[in-house]
Amino acid sequence: MTDLASLFPPGVLWKIAEDWMWETPLCPEEEALIAKAVDKRKREFRAGRNCAHELFKTANIHCNALLKGKQREPDWPEGWTGSISHTQGLCVVAIAPLTLFRSIGLDVEQATPLGDDIRSLICSAAEQDRLSRLTLMTGQDIASQPLDKVIFSAKESIHKTYFPLNYHTLDFLDARVDINTGDCSFEATIIKPEPAPKVPITTLRGKYCVGQSYLATFISLEP
Ligand SMILES: CC(C)(COP(=O)(O)OP(=O)(O)OC[C@H]1O[C@@H](n2cnc3c(N)ncnc32)[C@H](O)[C@@H]1OP(=O)(O)O)[C@@H](O)C(=O)NCCC(=O)NCCS
Repeated sequence: MTDLASLFPPGVLWKIAEDWMWETPLCPEEEALIAKAVDKRKREFRAGRNCAHELFKTANIHCNALLKGKQREPDWPEGWTGSISHTQGLCVVAIAPLTLFRSIGLDVEQATPLGDDIRSLICSAAEQDRLSRLTLMTGQDIASQPLDKVIFSAKESIHKTYFPLNYHTLDFLDARVDINTGDCSFEATIIKPEPAPKVPITTLRGKYCVGQSYLATFISLEP
């Protein structure tokens, strides 16, 4: 994907999983997490974990088995945060030191529009109206981009940023995403937060990019 690099601020290390990473088995503790999984799940899990280990190796950081926390969030080495995303044929991992970022969220998706059946579960009526206006105003190149899928992806990135701090799963309509097509950024407002959050968050900012086959979103929250 051409613009992927534009998502990441300085200090974030990121990598696209290479072919061998999808195939190569992990250490026994990590393999135990996917012992009963179907082949597709084993491949994507291995891609994410092998890719993360390569990133930590490049950063010269010791990283034991990357297990998971309360849900499926990776249990990153002390002093680090990160995010993993996979979709058919693509896996991307980003990591960052906690001194620079409190939490990060990354999501990659196929660059196809949301189905009519789920659009209203993901995007509020106000978000859908705004998307319709944006596509009218901004010309054919933007009108042809699946911006509803960008909103979906942004909301997955919100979850990956928010959950590890508050152990709370937001619903898709608990946050509002405003896209700025001028600089491919977005602002997310948490409308219905966790009632007693450990880390109160009202706004998150992120970037997006749309390629021919894939789109991606990334959020970083500073300390
Ligand atoms: C967890 C979820 C975001 C995964 O998204 P997905 O598109 O299916 O899959 P992705 O490949 O992009 O992401 C999966 C990776 O996210 C990470 N992840 C999973 N749960 C996570 C969580 N609670 N917090 C942070 N990261 C998490 C894991 O690394 C996982 O990969 P792994 O299991 O191989 O390690 C999605 O399944 C989900 O539950 N969404 C509902 C919550 C939500 O998004 N709400 C909207 C808030 S506005």
